[in-house]
Amino acid sequence: MRDDSQANNSIWMATADTPSQPRLQENIRTDVCIIGAGIAGLTTAYLLVQEGRSVVVLDDGPIGGGMTGRTTAHLTNAFDDRFVEVEKLHGETGSRLTAASHTAAIDKVEEICRNEQIDCEFERVDGFLFALPPDTEKLLDEELAATHRAGLVEVEKVARAPIDSFDTGPALRFPRQAQFHPLAYLSGLTRAIRRAGGRLFNQTHATTIEGGENARVETSHGPVVSCDVIVVATNTPVNDRVAIHTKQAPYVTYVIGAAVPKDSITRALYWDTLDPYHYIRLQSYKDHDVLIVGGEDHKTGQANDCLDRFARLEKWTRERFPQIGEIEFRWSGQVMEPADYLAFIGRNPLDSDNVFIATGDSGQGITHGTIAGILLTDLIQGRKNRWEDIYNPSRVTLRAAMEYAGENINVAGQFADYVTAGDIRSVDELKPGQGAIMREGISKIAVYRDDSGMVHRRSAVCPHLGCVVAWNSCERTWDCPCHGSKYTAEGRVYNGPANSDLGKVD
Ligand SMILES: Cc1cc2nc3c(=O)[nH]c(=O)nc-3n(C[C@H](O)[C@H](O)[C@H](O)COP(=O)(O)OP(=O)(O)OC[C@H]3O[C@@H](n4cnc5c(N)ncnc54)[C@H](O)[C@@H]3O)c2cc1C
Ligand code: FES
Repeated sequence: MRDDSQANNSIWMATADTPSQPRLQENIRTDVCIIGAGIAGLTTAYLLVQEGRSVVVLDDGPIGGGMTGRTTAHLTNAFDDRFVEVEKLHGETGSRLTAASHTAAIDKVEEICRNEQIDCEFERVDGFLFALPPDTEKLLDEELAATHRAGLVEVEKVARAPIDSFDTGPALRFPRQAQFHPLAYLSGLTRAIRRAGGRLFNQTHATTIEGGENARVETSHGPVVSCDVIVVATNTPVNDRVAIHTKQAPYVTYVIGAAVPKDSITRALYWDTLDPYHYIRLQSYKDHDVLIVGGEDHKTGQANDCLDRFARLEKWTRERFPQIGEIEFRWSGQVMEPADYLAFIGRNPLDSDNVFIATGDSGQGITHGTIAGILLTDLIQGRKNRWEDIYNPSRVTLRAAMEYAGENINVAGQFADYVTAGDIRSVDELKPGQGAIMREGISKIAVYRDDSGMVHRRSAVCPHLGCVVAWNSCERTWDCPCHGSKYTAEGRVYNGPANSDLGKVD
């Protein structure tokens, strides 16, 4: 499939052919207009069409062209920020609801695959969490106790994870986790939505999103969708300027895929306890397996040393899995980390009652996206859902206030970029494929020289709230260090919260 934006492609992009959809050509009417054809948007669309609602899905790229095409697709209820921490902020009841919702999400994916006969290699596997220094077995013991209090009583401590080539030491085993091919799953969902009468449109960028009595979504090329309900499932909401973006922070995370002989490593999900942590799984590819290892996260737009990060990931992997061969895939993507760990799914704060959002995926956006489908369908259909409060986007978790404050001090620090020098003094310093920030008088310009040598110039000021973007040399994108907006090298926005391109300059 075509990559929506970025130069480094995932194993899923190399091995899936998602069905392309037409561009919206005329004004239309529907019950529910969903913006975003990733896991959150398509799951919501699927569940709503099953209930007889008419649904339109708009995406400005292809199906799965956002972060769902860049995931590693661990489907897990082993909460990656740890149940010990969730319990501190949300109490034991919150922790139980969190565990139950992720378990239900995995079950829902399995049910949909079965009902719709989606061939996406869905597979139940065990998950293993092991401690690496400076963390110790004590951390695992505390997490095991918190996990049991959260209701996952089948989780147990084992002597080591089932990896022959290195001794992980004691590990927690989480039974009945899962993995799948995320784009094959989205392809299946797309077909099922269409079969049930849903309409999907690609290359259709939503600009104005207006709830209320005459709810409507306007698109950049003209056609308007009128509807009763709007769901903004754009990974990070493009219709919300501040309320949500001060409560979550964007992080880039890196992945390598290394060739290993088929079935030479036990198929399971593996995670260590480091911060950032490593996450590991296997995937069949051609005549062998690919060991997929992720980690090396950093705040978006606040580091440009991606080659070093891929190299460190490879070194870490080769030391522990000496049997790996060629590194066949290298990719990266962005996750949104909510300050109090849980996704924001529900009514958009400070908006009309018929506008819903799903964001704050963290490293568990596949289950969070599926939870969004279940929860939003209930809310739209006027049903109660017991997860409503823990995922409520308007929630105020006082105990998370320090975390919010820390993230926002970091954001405030990014405005210092206005007064610093540029990365380069002249475009002559740029080789083909490179981008850099250049100062011109009081302005900062994002300059990119494409592979043919042509120079593209855009304002470096992010249209969301005005931070200066930074060049990401591995993805060939402009990344905003404040709230994670991403732009192609030529300046086209493809990840919010900004919803317009980098400004034109002379
Ligand atoms: C490297 C990596 C590894 C990960 N590993 C895991 C994992 O193992 N397990 C897990 O659960 N999660 C993981 N995640 C997180 C998970 O993949 C994501 O959180 C999830 O896929 C996000 O889904 P989404 O539907 O919210 O957003 P997306 O998939 O990004 O979909 C949003 C869509 O909205 C569209 N869009 C945006 N703005 C507009 C607009 N204005 N108009 C029209 N369309 C628009 C985009 O084109 C995009 O297609 C990982 C993420 C990354 C990057
Ligand atoms: S994403 Fe908020 S200022 Fe750029």
